[in-house]
Amino acid sequence: MSGFVEKLRGIVGDRGLVVDDAGKAPYLGDWRENFMGAALAIVRPASTDEVASVVRLCAAEKVAVVPQGGNTGMVGGATPDTDGRAIVLSLNRMNRILEVDPLGYTMTVEAGVVLKTIQDEAARHDRLFPLSLAAEGSCTIGGNLATNAGGVQVLHYGNARQLVLGIEVVLPSGEVWNGLRALKKDNTGYDLRDLYLGAEGTLGIITRAVLKLWPRPKDIATAWIAVPSPAAAVTLLSGAHAASEDNVTSCELMARQGIDLVLQHIPGAADPLAERHDWYVLLEWSSTRPRREGEAGLAGKMEAYLGEAMEQGLVLDAALAQSEAQAKAFWALRENHSESQKKDGPSIKHDISVSVSRIPAFMDEGLAAMRTVLPSCRPVPFGHVGDGNLHFNCMAPVGWDKPRFMEVAPAISAAVYDLVVKYGGSISAEHGIGRMKVEELAHYRGRIELDTMRAIKRALDPANLMNPGKVLEV
Ligand code: FAD
Ligand code: MLT
Ligand code: ZN
Repeated sequence: MSGFVEKLRGIVGDRGLVVDDAGKAPYLGDWRENFMGAALAIVRPASTDEVASVVRLCAAEKVAVVPQGGNTGMVGGATPDTDGRAIVLSLNRMNRILEVDPLGYTMTVEAGVVLKTIQDEAARHDRLFPLSLAAEGSCTIGGNLATNAGGVQVLHYGNARQLVLGIEVVLPSGEVWNGLRALKKDNTGYDLRDLYLGAEGTLGIITRAVLKLWPRPKDIATAWIAVPSPAAAVTLLSGAHAASEDNVTSCELMARQGIDLVLQHIPGAADPLAERHDWYVLLEWSSTRPRREGEAGLAGKMEAYLGEAMEQGLVLDAALAQSEAQAKAFWALRENHSESQKKDGPSIKHDISVSVSRIPAFMDEGLAAMRTVLPSCRPVPFGHVGDGNLHFNCMAPVGWDKPRFMEVAPAISAAVYDLVVKYGGSISAEHGIGRMKVEELAHYRGRIELDTMRAIKRALDPANLMNPGKVLEV
């Protein structure tokens, strides 16, 4: 294969090619440390033309391509398999913001721009790019679009699919589809853009995107709230929509087990409330209307609402952030859930969704289902309750190593997913399928859906070279 690698070098130059083992290593394993693969080379093109040339060469030589952004995915979608015959195509050198149009509320970017950079650039123009998740300091917009990422503001702004107007894609043949349109309305036939969003790199490589921007909020209220139950959390959220005048931008639910792990593993983390409680909600309201002199603003409205909710027994205790720093500290308790679970030991994740009103019943039945399979397991449910999306995660019993836990993990997951289906929910609300849930997707989605997805994959990638083995077996 040395001739092939030299042809790659001819396209991307020395800076764009990594072939030594130490240099390749960070690209070959996933964030959760579940998968480790091998690759002929890591290829880092600097432009769409270079991506297209690399993909054309791979098509000619029948070499598989694994697209990779920030490599923060939760389901092994950006990890190559172990045979070492694929290349990893990293977008991390395509990291330029190409244009900001504050008048038209759009930003055009290359796929490898880190999400936080986009948020900061939007803020510099007094605009908001609302996609927000704990990995925002390292995940890329290309990865966000390829996974149709969710995060903590979906209930107000939508997921990644709703935040983009146009994309440019390098197809498995190496041709470039320029769908980089900044149009709000375009009913000219099938929606190709939506095909590539959430396809996890199995249909093509997203190289550029036109993103939507919003006005930047000028008044934000954030509260850390102890609630008696998930049912109380859902009722609290339901009333908050009207009480905030439709300004609820985040509503995250957490169980005490998750808070304990954050306090144990994350330096500087502190419990905002004096007493321990079983359930917490992080509630945020934001408005583009600035708080005027002498007005209590959203914080005043939120305080009044939480007071009423306390009288109704929906709230046990609450702390309203008095400063941006305090709001950040509340958010850190939420955002460090994944990191602290990783530090604590082996765990499995169930990124599920059901309709919001069914969350309380699902929580009860789901916790019971996990404990029936393994009474000593340690469930850590938390997540985006406002979207009906729970991270119904489960830590191994204390003292168990990963191989021992992984023997029983499939039975726990099957119990959870069967219940999700009973509730009319989804077995992957925001993380995607990757390589981790290929069997589950084949098991839980209907024949018509699977046949249609396979037909699309075969039509667009007949040689099965674009991220093979991910999402679907064809
Ligand atoms: P990668 O991990 O590099 O790739 C993900 C998938 O997209 C792979 O299949 C890859 O092949 C494909 N891909 C990457 N770039 C491209 C491209 N340019 N074109 C085509 N395909 C491409 N996710 C959520 O949805 N919500 C959350 O709240 C959330 N929280 C997280 C918190 C933490 C601490 C971590 C580590 C992850 C979290 N994630 C969350 C998962 C992850 O951050 C997202 O899936 C993110 O969108 C992945 O972006 P990435 O650039 O890291 O993509
Ligand atoms: C998050 O919302 O923090 C992640 O998507 C959840 C997870 O790690 O399970
Ligand atoms: Zn999440």
